[in-house]
Formats: sequence, structure tokens, C-alpha cells
Amino acid sequence: MKTIFVVCLVIYATLCEGQTTRSPCPEAGINQITTCYAAYFRNYNFSSTPDFKTYIDTRYSILLKGGVDTFKLICQWHNTRLACIGSYDPVCATESAFAQALGVSSTDAAQYLSSYGLDNWECGPGYNDVVTNFYCIESLLSYHNDERLACNQAMNASIVQNGFSCSILRTFVQCYTKVYTKYCGQIGGYIGCNFAKTGSVELTPSCAPQLPNFCELIIVKKLVAMTCPFFTTSVGSGQVSQHYGRPLLTMRHWNSNDAIQKGELSQSCHKAKATISDPDSK
Ligand SMILES: *[C@@H]1O[C@H](CO)[C@@H](O)[C@H](O)[C@H]1NC(C)=O
Ligand SMILES: *[C@@H]1O[C@H](CO)[C@@H](O)[C@H](O)[C@H]1NC(C)=O
Repeated sequence: MKTIFVVCLVIYATLCEGQTTRSPCPEAGINQITTCYAAYFRNYNFSSTPDFKTYIDTRYSILLKGGVDTFKLICQWHNTRLACIGSYDPVCATESAFAQALGVSSTDAAQYLSSYGLDNWECGPGYNDVVTNFYCIESLLSYHNDERLACNQAMNASIVQNGFSCSILRTFVQCYTKVYTKYCGQIGGYIGCNFAKTGSVELTPSCAPQLPNFCELIIVKKLVAMTCPFFTTSVGSGQVSQHYGRPLLTMRHWNSNDAIQKGELSQSCHKAKATISDPDSK
């Protein structure tokens, strides 16, 4: 099953149903979500709510065909839907409200909700990075989707064995991060981290405090000696400029505790015995 940009968290969602304590969605909110989603589905030529698999397969196939332009279009559809839902999010962004509003099973409702949380990120704060790295992410899903799905399966197994806890979610997010870093570099890791985090936190907001700043990008500025191989090898999304006559490497680095990320920068410079000092660290 190919599901682009969607985290399938059915099992865990089903197991931790009822964990969240939010006031119930009012009747008007249910109706509003029904209306907003109906309009959204009409963009895909669905005249009623499709089951989640049909929806996501359709979405994937038009994305494959239309590429990044279709992604941008889907984000417009999403933003319209978001504006339509308005202040009923967060109170109606729950599995049970979605199940009622869309007339689907709780399993499908959980998937739709997770997908909604993910859309909020990829069509919001993550938009530019997803657009820029669209084809790498797409090819990851086309050729290495088994590795991504292995993260879901590992989480599944862990929940079956130990019961749900937020730390399982943390491991899951790290797993995604690793896969996306492997194929799409640092920025990919940042994107994968957010895919997993935003899709799952939408389902279990109570776990959000356990993933604070977990997937955030920060700007790192480092003065780098000219001998640092970083300039020519793995500069990635970094940019070199001058800082009082010395080369300054500005990297969008990210704030995960994951060792891969931090290691990458220092390691490649360390090899060449380059010196790095951070003008912002004082
Ligand atoms: C929906 O139908 C219209 C008219 O047939 C077509 O032009 C459009 O491409 C379809 N959209 C999708 C997402 O399939
Ligand atoms: C999750 O685990 C259960 C029990 O081991 C299994 O039946 C099910 O197929 C698994 N689902 C996924 C998506 O791995």
C-alpha cells in the first residue's frame, strides 16, 4: 500500500482511544466538518466520503502524475478546508467527531484525523521545505516505502507487547527521522520527523509535551576553516558567506536530540582537522 505523506497509525489510535480529554464537539461543529470535507472531497471528484484507502490511493496517484504542482494544489484545497473548519479545530479535531462527521469507522476516522494533522504541517510551516524536497520524498515513498512501513510495524509490535505510551511514539518519530535522513539528508530527516510527529500528535495531543521542539529547525552559524571538507562535500542546505573576512557557514540544522544530525556537521570537519567556532554560542 502506498500512502504518500500519510502516517498510518490505526493500531495505536485504536488502542489509545479515549485517552484525550477534550470537551465534546457540538452538533454544529460536526455539521461544519461534514460540509468542509464534502467540499474538499469534490476536488478529487468524490461525491461522498471515500474509505481512507481509496482517498489516499487517489491522492497518491494524482501526486505521482502531477508532481509538485499537484502538491501545491492539494495544499490550496487543504487550506480552504482548514479555513472552513475554523475555530471548530481543536474541539472537533477528534476521532469520534471525525467518525460522526465523515460517516466512517473509527479506524478510518483516526487515519483521516492523522492525515489532517499532517496536512496542517506540510501545507503550513513545512510547506516550503516539502516543495523544495518533493521529489526526494516522493522517490523515498516509491522505492523505500518498506523501510518507512517497518517503523509503523515496530510501533505496532511495541504497543501490542507493552501497551501504548508516549515514549513508543517518540521511538516511532525517531524511526521515521532515520529513514528520511538516510534518503533525503538532514532536511529530509526534519521533514520525516514532522510527518511522524504531526500525524500522531493530532491523534494523541496528550503526548505533545513529550516531544517538545523535537522536530524544529534552528539556524546554526559556524565560522569554518577553509580546509573543512564540508564546503565541497556535504554542505547540503548550508550557505557559505563572509563574516569579518572569515568564511561563515550558515546551516539550517535541526533541533532533534538525534545524534545523526549533530554528528554530521562536526564529523566531516573533524576529519580534516578543521577548526570550528560558533560565533553565536557565546
Ligand atoms: C475531476 O473531474 C474533472 C472533469 O471530468 C477532471 O477534469 C479532473 O481532472 C478530475 N479531478 C481529479 C482529481 O480526478
Ligand atoms: C499489528 O500487530 C498485530 C498483532 O501482531 C498484527 O496482527 C497486525 O497485522 C499488525 N499490523 C501492522 C500494520 O503491522
